Amino acid sequence: MTANIVVLISGSGTNLQALIDACEQGKIDGRISAVISNKADAFGLQRAARAGIVTEFLDPKAYSDRASYDVALADMIDGHRADVIVMAGFMRILSEGFVERFNGKMLNIHPSLLPKYQGLHTHQRAIEAGDKEHGCSVHFVTAELDGGPVVLQAKVPVFQEDSPEELAKRVLVQEHAIYPLVVSWLCQGRLSMTEQGAELDGQLLPAEGYAN
Ligand code: GAR
Repeated sequence: MTANIVVLISGSGTNLQALIDACEQGKIDGRISAVISNKADAFGLQRAARAGIVTEFLDPKAYSDRASYDVALADMIDGHRADVIVMAGFMRILSEGFVERFNGKMLNIHPSLLPKYQGLHTHQRAIEAGDKEHGCSVHFVTAELDGGPVVLQAKVPVFQEDSPEELAKRVLVQEHAIYPLVVSWLCQGRLSMTEQGAELDGQLLPAEGYAN
């Protein structure tokens, strides 16, 4: 059965574009039923509209607190009959109730080799730490910010003269390669989250994810 995917974005949406392309190319057995943004001017909304995908803007200013926004967001996601929820540059902290509602169905991509550099400014922090390698991680979303079980990581070198922007670009290329792959696994029912961690085809994945 073709899975319904809802993608949450806040910005440019290059990861969303990679997912749209992968669906169109039949690399993901799923269809993106909606793209939801917390920013009215997120360029990703235009990418979605161009691809004929339903777009929604849910304005945080219309809600008095995080909990009520998150209930509205979760109801909107359910309204689109989501089997899989994909956070692609969605820059909001999620309440516990929201995360629990979609337990095991929600993925995030984070621009670091988790558990390193949870939170913001990951590229800058990797450069400042003198790291020789950096990268990105796709993980299940749990109540711990950027802390859910990792499914897949990709690494890139860090060069001495790198700026955070150059490093971010190098990492993004890898994000676009690994995210559609992991989403395809979840849509196929090959991937699950158990109490031990992420499992692919019934095999528990190591803490660094599949490729390790
Ligand atoms: C990506 O680098 C993604 O990993 C990051 O935001 C960027 C979104 O780019 N996400 C986070 O930092 C989440 N904590 P995109 O809008 O072009 O896909």
